[in-house]
Amino acid sequence: YRIVVLASGTGSLFQSLIDAVADGTLEVQIAGLVTDRGEAQALQRAATAGIPTAVVPLAKGADRDEWNRALCRAVEEFAPDLVVSAGFMRIVGPAFLQRFGGAMINTHPSLLPSFPGAHAVRDALAHGVRVSGATIFWVDEGVDTGRIIDQAAVPVQTDDTADSLHERIKTIERQILIDTVGRLAEEENHEQRPV
Ligand code: GRF
Repeated sequence: YRIVVLASGTGSLFQSLIDAVADGTLEVQIAGLVTDRGEAQALQRAATAGIPTAVVPLAKGADRDEWNRALCRAVEEFAPDLVVSAGFMRIVGPAFLQRFGGAMINTHPSLLPSFPGAHAVRDALAHGVRVSGATIFWVDEGVDTGRIIDQAAVPVQTDDTADSLHERIKTIERQILIDTVGRLAEEENHEQRPV
């Protein structure tokens, strides 16, 4: 069962997938790491783990449809069964989703549908929530609007900053992401098992 991970930043969630495969918790093959940023730390993590990578930059003012097609080609190269967006800070469009829609999951650091978008943790904290959390969902054409697969709650502490809360959320996020990928791989393997 082959997965391709999309990441734009530090890639700590990507690292948790690498570690889970290495210690046998997750029986999948991380076939590739694709990013839109050549300076993403996720690239170093992939290199250390011997995972092939592709960089598909989105230049300012570039044609987004063309970028989506380039991203699609880069992901297709790795022949994934599942695309895992883990801290990928771009919205994928129709050209990408017509190929990978229904086979792509995303992870988000809030209890969707609350606080969608790129500043979920900051927004939740500013709103004064007492409980936040993480969500794993199927990517659709909207922003953080796809069908929810799993969620887990995280209590907000009075002295929390956006960073401290986000780190605590990431701890839970890693767990439900690994569980979800493992379950989807299991389901796929059952389907493929000869009857
Ligand atoms: C995660 O909380 C993810 O949900 C959000 O950004 C964070 C990525 O963290 N989109 P990292 O880059 O994996 O450390």
